[in-house]
Amino acid sequence: MQSLCSSLRTEGLRIGFVPTMGALHEGHLSLVDLIKERVDILVLSIFVNPTQFGHNEDLDKYPRDLEQDKMLCINRKVDYIFAPSIEEMYQSNYSTKISENSLSIGLCGSSRPDHFSGVALVCAKLFNICQPSVVAFGQKDAQQVAVIKRMVRDLNFQIDVLVGPIIREYDGLAMSSRNRYLSVENRDKALSLNRSLQRGKQLFTEGTTDARKITNEIKSDLSRVEGLELDYVEIVNRENLVAELDVKAKQSICVVAVWVNKVRLIDNYCF
Ligand code: PAJ
Repeated sequence: MQSLCSSLRTEGLRIGFVPTMGALHEGHLSLVDLIKERVDILVLSIFVNPTQFGHNEDLDKYPRDLEQDKMLCINRKVDYIFAPSIEEMYQSNYSTKISENSLSIGLCGSSRPDHFSGVALVCAKLFNICQPSVVAFGQKDAQQVAVIKRMVRDLNFQIDVLVGPIIREYDGLAMSSRNRYLSVENRDKALSLNRSLQRGKQLFTEGTTDARKITNEIKSDLSRVEGLELDYVEIVNRENLVAELDVKAKQSICVVAVWVNKVRLIDNYCF
């Protein structure tokens, strides 16, 4: 893959890259559409990256469906799928890590302490292999976007980072490969994430700018859903993830993470 991408670049072609863990849905494919017009060659990676999963997390049961993913990629005119094995990506004695030590700390970083260093490591490796000029990430994972942008800046990757909007199901549930784990009943509970974020948006539109008032309202909304365990609800600046006291349009995002019967779900809304 690396020598293929080197020769494509030598020919003067611009490579666009969408990293994924597979079990593709419209959220992933919207990133293909977002980037395609700007590049000559489109590469999508499918790799369930072990270094970003905690010991007690769902690495083993994470959904994998390479055949279906291939069909979706062919339909969307992806030029190359890169689907390496774990052994190809990680030598048994690999000993180099990447730690982003500011944006990775709070929010999901609190309950998933090694997650973002695993994400940063695999993305740096994938960027070096696929040598893209442009990469696309989804706003669904707002903290991941902030961490990757920071890493690209700090480590001087010559890459433009594009960010695509959150793609939702017809009923507002943010698309996620993990939605496959949800029973009908739990899926119904999961809808409360978007519903409570919409309530927060409504408060802001009606004139409330006090971030704590809005997060308290969202928390109390979510606390009424039986079987839903709250991890966090916070309003932060979308670039530096610092908590905001006053909500600012287009700058502040409300980020939410919950467990619905052990399935971890995240969502966010930009005011
Ligand atoms: P994965 O969860 O497969 O997501 C791949 C990309 O798709 C990410 O940029 C994610 O934000 C985006 N995405 C997922 N659901 C989305 C939705 N509903 N709307 C818009 N975009 C969505 O994120 C990862 O994989 C991994 O951490 C990875 C970056 C591949 C590193 O292993």
